[in-house]
Amino acid sequence: MPTMNRRTFLSTSTALTSTAVALLVQPALVKGEHKKLSSNALWGTLIFTAENPGRYSSKAKGHLPTVTVFDTPQGKTIRVETSHEMNSYQHYIVKHQLFDQHLQLIGEHMFNPKVESQPVSLFTLEDYSGPLYAISLCNKHDAWLTQTTV
Ligand SMILES: [Fe+2]
Repeated sequence: MPTMNRRTFLSTSTALTSTAVALLVQPALVKGEHKKLSSNALWGTLIFTAENPGRYSSKAKGHLPTVTVFDTPQGKTIRVETSHEMNSYQHYIVKHQLFDQHLQLIGEHMFNPKVESQPVSLFTLEDYSGPLYAISLCNKHDAWLTQTTV
């Protein structure tokens, strides 16, 4: 089996999670609906949620990102946290991504498990309200999605 270096893994994982979120969200956007997404065939197979943890049902607690919103003078601060270990490059959270209702990437934070002991990231929204999609990507247990609305 060919090996995959870290750069290839990260670029591939970014493309996969972006595509997965697009496939999940697009039907709702076509209908002009921006409400909480409902289940489809990709939930629990390609991307995991609290309601659809699929083959990782025992892993949900440690992989679902928790999203907290704070009002600040600059706008809203979005705090994304995953209660997951950061065991060097053996098992860790690779990144957090935050998407808006149009699937535009608001931001992402790449983690260095040799430096960061907790997967926590902060994003600032200056003038946005609507659905947010937070992704937490584990190097062993794939992509996990939490939805919220600001
Ligand atoms: Fe994991």
